[in-house]
This record gives sequence, structure tokens and C-alpha cells, in this order.
Amino acid sequence: MEKKGNHFSGQIGFVLAAAGSAVGVGNLWRFPYLAAKDGGGLFLIIYLALVLTFGFTLLVSDIAIGRRTQKSAIGAYTQMHPKWKFLGVLTFIVPVLIMTYYAVIGGWITRYAVVYLTGSAQAAAGDDYFSSFISSPVSPGVYALLFMGVTAVIVYKGVQGGIEAVSKWMMPVLLVLVVVVALFSLTIEHTDESGQIRTGVQGLFYYLTPHTEGLTVSRFLQILLDAMSQLFFSLSVSMGIMITYGSYVKPEVNLNKAVNQIEFFDTGVALFAGAMIVPAVFVFSGTEGMSAGPSLMFVSLPKVFAAMGKAGVFVGILFFVTAIFATLTSCISVLESIVANCMEIFHTTRKKTVLVLSVIYLAASAVIALGYSVFYLEAELPNGTTGQLLDIMDYVSNSVLMPLIALFSTILIGWVTKPSFVTEEMERGGYAFRRKKIYVIMIRYIAPVMMLVLFLQSTGILQ
Ligand code: PHE
Repeated sequence: MEKKGNHFSGQIGFVLAAAGSAVGVGNLWRFPYLAAKDGGGLFLIIYLALVLTFGFTLLVSDIAIGRRTQKSAIGAYTQMHPKWKFLGVLTFIVPVLIMTYYAVIGGWITRYAVVYLTGSAQAAAGDDYFSSFISSPVSPGVYALLFMGVTAVIVYKGVQGGIEAVSKWMMPVLLVLVVVVALFSLTIEHTDESGQIRTGVQGLFYYLTPHTEGLTVSRFLQILLDAMSQLFFSLSVSMGIMITYGSYVKPEVNLNKAVNQIEFFDTGVALFAGAMIVPAVFVFSGTEGMSAGPSLMFVSLPKVFAAMGKAGVFVGILFFVTAIFATLTSCISVLESIVANCMEIFHTTRKKTVLVLSVIYLAASAVIALGYSVFYLEAELPNGTTGQLLDIMDYVSNSVLMPLIALFSTILIGWVTKPSFVTEEMERGGYAFRRKKIYVIMIRYIAPVMMLVLFLQSTGILQ
């Protein structure tokens, strides 16, 4: 197995690559929506409390397992306990599924960036623009292939020469961009037909104030579950990615610091994304204008940008470029974890592995991209929604597999190998693992229960 050269140069390279994976569409199109829906500041407080306990536990586990075993998910879990190889295989399936559609989303974003750059921003704000784009039979496929191709080229170049090199400039630029657009959001104001003036600052207050009016226990639990599922999707844990990235960290790096910085980066971008999107939507469409996912990014926001007039074109460009950076670095991490597992299983070189996987995923991306035209179908998902091919992949990987994997891995670490498997790695090099007590309690008692509830809820069994 060639491990030589398969390393991040040091702590910063690792942190930025891991942050690159963590910061993705989840930060941009889901976090702001949840914050607006789940009581503003109330959601933020709950989310932050969970980041420091629950998110921290899962992130520490994945990264420590990777560095200790020097392997990716399948090899790592097998090494932890031969009977738990199945968990490695389950974990491997998540990026395998996500990879089929992530480049499709990246393609949509690229298309919007192109539209804004070429001066057709006004058209993009039209009511049917997005639905007619994704249901056209050629264009979404072409953009998906382009995005997939760029991802493959970067992964082909290797850990330091590709992934780290790209993350090292894209992530700082992304951070600056979200801060700039968030500040701009505060300066806008708008008078609606009824003569009511709404300002960006009011929108910011709406976002930050904890709204507890009419809060019930069941509503509180719902908010808790929303925050929890958002959190571990956002940190890219329980899908093997952080295990793979952890396996590239040099022994002398202080994992405690690295984990803190990754959490800080991911949460910071989420908070700023909220500060950029919630006030903007609030000013132009009021509180009813918030939606999640593609409809926020490709339908609501283009309308907001259009309402900003000339500045909107510019803000739109900045926003979609930010989104490309976020998606590309995540997409890279998904492909990398598949590549790493395959290299270990088949003992092949990186170049050959990437080439073979590229062919497979170019085809898969094209199929999923045409899931709204040529391969259109309507599937009833167990959680009560109806979806196309992309939604099926998303449902299986995120709503079913990820909570299940997190549940199993907390049992494996908490009760089979015992938490020392992870805590020893955190203390390697003589560093203090300050939140060790919290970690042990979380991994043994609290996280398994939380994951079980989340699994039952997100699969629809609990509804
Ligand atoms: N963590 C990313 C986000 O918040 C999502 C992601 C999913 C990244 C799957 C990699 C793989 O959007």
C-alpha cells in the first residue's frame, strides 16, 4: 500500500481540507433555512451547544480512528474489530451514493454562476427558470460532467498536490466572501406594496433573537432533531470522509487543535451564511420567503438578487462563486474517500483508481442529472415526501445510512474497543485532551440514544 506522499503537509493543510469537506451546500441552503424556521436565536443556541458536545464527539471519533489506523473506513473498522467490517462497508456506501448526485448539484450552481457572469441575472429570477433548466435534457448533464471532471482532476493530483493545494486558497477566499455578502445584507432595505419598510438590520435581529413564543416540548424536540441532523451532515462525519482525511494527518499534529479549528470554521461559515441569507430574504419577501435546499438557492435568492437592482448581479456572482467553492471542496472529499477505500481494497495506484472511478461517476452523474427529464420518476419515500432519483440517493445516504452508522460507531467505540481507542490517539504526542470526560460520557451513553432517536425520526418510523 502506498502511504508515502499520502499526507497533508501539516495542521493547516489538514484543517482547510477538512473544513473544505465540511463547508458545503448544507451550510448555505439548509442552515439559514432551519435557523429561520426553528426560532432564530433559539436554534442557534441549541446548534452551538450540540456542536461542542455531540458534533465534537463524532468528529473526534472519525479523525482519531483515521489517524490511528492509517486506513479508510473499511480497513479502519476491520482493524478495530474484525467482526465490525460490516460497519466499514456501510460507511463506504455513503460516499458511493452521494457521489452520484453531488456533482449534479455542483453543476446546477456552476450554471447559475455562468448565468450571472454573462449578464442574464434577470432571466434567472423568472418563476420557471430553475424547473425548466433541470428538466431540459442536455444542459444539466453537461454541467454535471464538467463539475465531475474538475473534481476528478484535483483528486488525481493527490492529497497534497490536489486536495490541499485547492483547499488552501479556496477556503480562505470563501470565508471572506460570506463575510462580505453578510455585511452587505445589513445595508439593504425595501419598501413593499403596503408601504412597509424592512431593513437588513431588522432581518439580522429576526435571525439572532431567540423566539420562544408558543414553544412546546414536542416543538423543542423537533428543533433539537433538526439541529442534530444538520450538524452531522454539516461536519461530514459518519460517511468515512473524516476517517480518510484523518489517515493523512501526520503523527506530530495536535488533533485537539485541529478539531477545534474545523468546528470553528464550519460553524462560522454557517452563521455567516445565515447572516447573509436570512436578512436578504426577510427584507424582500418577509418571513414567509424562506425555503430550504435548491428552491432557496435557485428560486428565492435569484428573486432577492433581482430586487436589489444593479448590485444584485454583483452579489449574485459573489454568492454563486462562494457556493462553487463550497461544493467543489466537498465533492473532492467524497471522491477521495471512495478512491482511498478502493486503493486499499484493490491495491491499485491512485491514478488508475481515479480513472476507473471517473468513468463510473461521469456516467452516474449524467443519469442523475437527467432524473428530471429522461429518467423522470416519482418515488414515494418512507418519510412522506415524493422524490426523483437524486432525492432517493439523498434519502438513503443521509436519512437512513448516516444516523445508522453513527449509532453503530458509538457502540463500537463506547462498548467494544472502549473510548481509550480514540482518547489515546487524541493524547498522542503528549497533548491534553481537555474534553475527554465529555467525550467518554457522550460516546457511551448520550450519543447512542440520540442517534437511535434521530434514525427513527429521519427514516419516518417515528412519525
Ligand atoms: N458537509 C457538507 C455540507 O455541509 C455536505 C457533504 C456531504 C460533504 C457529503 C461531503 C459529503 O454541505
